[in-house]
Amino acid sequence: MDSRFENYIRRGRFYVDGWLRSEAVQTIVALARRQRSLGVAGGVAEIGVHHGKLFILLYLLGLPSEKAVAIDLFEDQHLNIDNSGNGDLAKFRRNLERHADSARLVLHQGSSMDLSGAVLTRLADGPLRFISVDGGHTAEIAAHDLATAEAAIAEGGIIVVDDVFNEQWPSVGDGVRHYFDRRPNLVPFAVGANKTYFCRPSHRDIYHDAAAATASTATATEFLGQPVAFLQFLRPGLKDRVAKSPAWQRLRATPIGLPLRWAWNTGRTLRRGLTRNEDF
Ligand SMILES: C[S@@+](CC[C@H](N)C(=O)[O-])C[C@H]1O[C@@H](n2cnc3c(N)ncnc32)[C@H](O)[C@@H]1O
Repeated sequence: MDSRFENYIRRGRFYVDGWLRSEAVQTIVALARRQRSLGVAGGVAEIGVHHGKLFILLYLLGLPSEKAVAIDLFEDQHLNIDNSGNGDLAKFRRNLERHADSARLVLHQGSSMDLSGAVLTRLADGPLRFISVDGGHTAEIAAHDLATAEAAIAEGGIIVVDDVFNEQWPSVGDGVRHYFDRRPNLVPFAVGANKTYFCRPSHRDIYHDAAAATASTATATEFLGQPVAFLQFLRPGLKDRVAKSPAWQRLRATPIGLPLRWAWNTGRTLRRGLTRNEDF
């Protein structure tokens, strides 16, 4: 991985507007690395790029030979019928150049409803390794985009769909279920941090385990009649974050460290006392 990747993970993505939780970043990076270790190759694509928050991550995870296809309405926002996001080509290009480059970029401006798996495969110069589906959020568009992705994915490829379990966008889940009525050659393997992951049945166990290893807890559950890992990520509390920070590690052994620790512990005792009183 190059330094641009490390920079984007550490800081860069916070400067790019969009929808991508840190926990999903961990899972996506782990899955892409697992693909590498298996020798799975191919381009990446995202349907629904907005300003590039996830796209840039996928781009930076690609090899010099792998195309990265960005699909969005961009300037045709009058076609964005459900107002999901707000693609902006100038902002997207600026973000991509700032955090990566555009040597492997294949831009496709237009509605994903006019796209097929064959066209996507052609744009990427072959079957794809990783596809994010996060474009229009109606049931019809979600089902159509998932069909496009499924038709273009490589044997060891992964499809990640946003918002399948987001109560703000129930139609996305409807679309995914409608699509699975057709019994595609695809299975879900993990759900977590607002992303749902799919692959061919041949790779389910490998990717299930790789995704589960990124979570604090992975609970076995079912989706679409298939076993999936529900990934839970426990965020460390303020105390744990401060305790692990390099600044506190330096400070704790100095003369200021002792009174600070005393003040924290006294404050905690007082806060507990107050909570107990409020319970009455
Ligand atoms: C939720 S945003 C995507 C967020 C992005 N994946 C990220 O990482 O932040 C949805 C995007 O889908 C685009 N979009 C909506 N309907 C579309 C359609 N029918 N075809 C292509 N793109 C569409 C919007 O322009 C918007 O940029």
